[in-house]
Amino acid sequence: MRILAIESSCDETAAAVVEDGRKVISSVVATQIERHKVFGGVVPEIASRMHAECISQVVAETLDKAGCTVDGMDAVAVTAAPGLIGSLLVGVSFAKGLSWATGLPLIPVHHLRGHIAANYIAHEGLKPPFLCLVVSGGHSHIVEVKDYTDLRVIGRTRDDAAGEAFDKTARALGLPYPGGVNMDKLADEGDRSGYSFPKPHIDGAPYDFSFSGLKTAVINTIHNMEQKGQQPPVADLAAAVRGSVVDVLTERFLLAAKDTGYKRLAIAGGVSANSELRRRMTELCEKEGYELYIPPLSLCGDNAAMIGAQAYYEYLAGHRASLELNACATMEIGSDFDCLL
Ligand code: KG4
Ligand code: ZN
Repeated sequence: MRILAIESSCDETAAAVVEDGRKVISSVVATQIERHKVFGGVVPEIASRMHAECISQVVAETLDKAGCTVDGMDAVAVTAAPGLIGSLLVGVSFAKGLSWATGLPLIPVHHLRGHIAANYIAHEGLKPPFLCLVVSGGHSHIVEVKDYTDLRVIGRTRDDAAGEAFDKTARALGLPYPGGVNMDKLADEGDRSGYSFPKPHIDGAPYDFSFSGLKTAVINTIHNMEQKGQQPPVADLAAAVRGSVVDVLTERFLLAAKDTGYKRLAIAGGVSANSELRRRMTELCEKEGYELYIPPLSLCGDNAAMIGAQAYYEYLAGHRASLELNACATMEIGSDFDCLL
């Protein structure tokens, strides 16, 4: 079964053709990074306009690369939640139009389920059940993937997401947007040992995270040093921030794995590109006897191939939307869209 998938939840306009949930026939990602760079972050209004400007071309190029037309497709899938509402609406409207014009079934996909499904593309043998750490710019969750379309959040951030924490502290350190990846590179040159940042625990919720104090701690450290006439060691601070976030993520994720008894673990989302998170998870899982699945760097950030992969399993579960489908800025990963046929 071939699915044409569309993703436009944030600042990437993407389309892909995916076969049977596992094989990517073609995938195109048009990123808007350069346009948002001058503002130091994504400007929602600009993002939606840019999606509207390039979505037809991105879809046409994707079909072209796959060597087929829309007639060769069996369904159209689209990220319908969560994300920036104006951005999501561009993809959802386009997909609805395509579904109406061609008669193809329309499959709505939850963006974070898509991130998890990036692992199905990369690892042929990976099947639920498993436990997944989903870490992106907007979300940080520990998710029980009981089945392809049966997911339950058992841990979550109480405030900022891990990616957001990286982006905000990177900005405080004067690093250019996108902060997470630039901080990761710089941290390789730093030494974290002289700094200790807060790693708050939440009473009664051992798998939850809180990252919002990190930005304040970094800003205070910088101010203190500047007041003493010292130059803040940016690479060391980057290493300390990266190390603290990775400490918290790995510690809580492995605790959740131990308590729930899952032996198969995965990570997903933009922050799964972080080199220290990948390295430490690999070492810890090897030591403690867990099977670990990590997407390749090309599938960590937003793309439509992962949406096409998840859409296949949504389709098998009978999930198809009517043309009443609407985009939603927020939605739990375990919920189903309310306009299913
Ligand atoms: O999944 P994603 O591409 O978009 C959302 O769904 O939010 O995640 C983007 C987030 C951003 O916060 C970005 O800074 C972070 O992922 N990110 C990284 C790295 N690459 C991307 N964070 C830390 N280290 C990286 N190498
Ligand atoms: Zn994402």
